[in-house]
Amino acid sequence: MRTKLGLIVAAATMVASCAADAPTGPPFRTDATVQMLMANMVDPAADLVWDAVGTIVDADGENHWEPETEEDWIAVRYGAMSMIEAGNLLMMETRARDQDQWIRLSEAMMDASTLMFEAAEAEDADRVFALGEEVYTTCNNCHMLYWIDDADRGRAIESSSGGGP
Ligand code: HEC
Repeated sequence: MRTKLGLIVAAATMVASCAADAPTGPPFRTDATVQMLMANMVDPAADLVWDAVGTIVDADGENHWEPETEEDWIAVRYGAMSMIEAGNLLMMETRARDQDQWIRLSEAMMDASTLMFEAAEAEDADRVFALGEEVYTTCNNCHMLYWIDDADRGRAIESSSGGGP
């Protein structure tokens, strides 16, 4: 009898301590909504890589630019690295709209941005230019499903899916 009671007490204590430990992991702050991340992190980061290399042909002839100084290249690496890590932020619990498609689309952005980062490390301007389109495609693929080229449409999807950022 005594042993049985002891076991029950032990079991009850285990349940209680498990419940107390339930919220695990670091105290991540996810107050910034998907829209805030897009407007203030993802989009400015993408502009750093998209604007880094280009050619304009007009009446004055051809005007080509690409990163020249170490600072120029840091800006491209910074843009690419920010997009890689933004993918992790998009996959966080309060931001992910679902656990399959959204995750794959975030990963696609991270994959293209990783190639972009490698091109920037290799200081390969032609490749940075070519990969710009690949990055753009990954943005667009997610927007077609979750934002659909129209801010109001994006918000409608958000509120109909029952809240979240
Ligand atoms: C995993 C999905 C996903 C990916 C990948 C993604 N976006 Fe978005 N983006 C969204 C959603 C959803 C919205 C709409 C947010 C809202 O209005 O609530 C949005 C909105 C935006 C906006 C409008 C923000 C505003 O001020 O209303 C910009 C700009 C933007 N994204 C840029 C980008 C760029 C650039 C990339 C790629 C480098 C990218 N996004 C990749 C999901 C994504």
